[in-house]
Amino acid sequence: MPAEAYTSDRVFAWEQERFWRRDWVCLGRVDRLAAPGEQAGLDVAGAGVLAVRDATGALRTFRNACRHRGHELVGRGCTVRRSTIWCAYHAWVYRLDGSLRHAPRFDPPPDADLDLLPVRSAQWRGWLFVDLSGDAPPLAEVVGDLDAVLAPYRPETLRVVATQAYDVAANWKLVVENYLECYHCPSTHPELSRVQRTDGGESFRATGAWLGGHLDLRNSAATMSLDGAGPDWTFPDLDEDAVRQVRYHLLPPGLLVTATPDHLVTHRLVPLAADRTRVECEWLFAAELVDAGTDPGYAVSFWHTTNQQDWAACESVQRGVSGGGYRPGPLAPQEDLLHTFLARLAEAYRGAGPTGTDPGPVR
Ligand code: FES
Ligand SMILES: [Fe+2]
Repeated sequence: MPAEAYTSDRVFAWEQERFWRRDWVCLGRVDRLAAPGEQAGLDVAGAGVLAVRDATGALRTFRNACRHRGHELVGRGCTVRRSTIWCAYHAWVYRLDGSLRHAPRFDPPPDADLDLLPVRSAQWRGWLFVDLSGDAPPLAEVVGDLDAVLAPYRPETLRVVATQAYDVAANWKLVVENYLECYHCPSTHPELSRVQRTDGGESFRATGAWLGGHLDLRNSAATMSLDGAGPDWTFPDLDEDAVRQVRYHLLPPGLLVTATPDHLVTHRLVPLAADRTRVECEWLFAAELVDAGTDPGYAVSFWHTTNQQDWAACESVQRGVSGGGYRPGPLAPQEDLLHTFLARLAEAYRGAGPTGTDPGPVR
């Protein structure tokens, strides 16, 4: 890709519109809002989304803007628990299903439909997704057979045991590209390379929009940890290949799911600017392991180390492609998934046309 793909504010704005406001975007785990009345102010490509656990236990999503004059109902990044949705500006009150309950000093009450505007949402294996456009293909179609691939890990039953957010000074696509190849592993990740083979893996033949592949653990390692030791437990439904593999999956545009024999690690990308990406990393363990008192520190320290090495590499690439004069080189055979990602991206860019007009979804 030319440098502008990673540095241009105009390209970034186009991608926000084309990918992040028109595709299913993951907003994290559904159990983050567990109790009725819990409400979170979230952000999707600059648009505010309000997620609410209603009185029946259903998770609802709305535009995070009051129908009076647009004040946010819950501040971005904040979580509250209330029996109603309440606007702090002029105190309009909405029920948890988004319907307007009270507008102070309106007598009679306003007769227009002033319920909160819903945002299309869907859940998949414990994650919440929204589609701001309302026009994306069904989430199940986008997920395709990733659902079956991840089924043995039963992600919907897992518990988040650790989270870590990173502010990465690199374009979001550099984070994705870095994730899609292990060509960099021998030189960038000495710890990872001691426990996992860095070649000889295979890519999945995916249906749906996802991309992924797997690599084998080294014989001396039980899992992805600094010393290769693990909890002496594996997900019960894994086949004999999976118990010796680390599997990497990208669900575009920004959810990375890494599956090891005993835990999952996810990275949720939030593009902030052409050269800035927030990455939210979560470690997911089986309830059985958590209840047995297993310390997730082995996985947390391992992936935190690996994350920092990856972000340093991505930030270095961002600096390298900035400032003019960069010319991209050839991809190595091990970078086949990266090639697929870039080819799809190029197709989407081409669909934008020379004037930046976009004729519609490109898949
Ligand atoms: S903007 Fe919410 S009550 Fe006025
Ligand atoms: Fe890496």
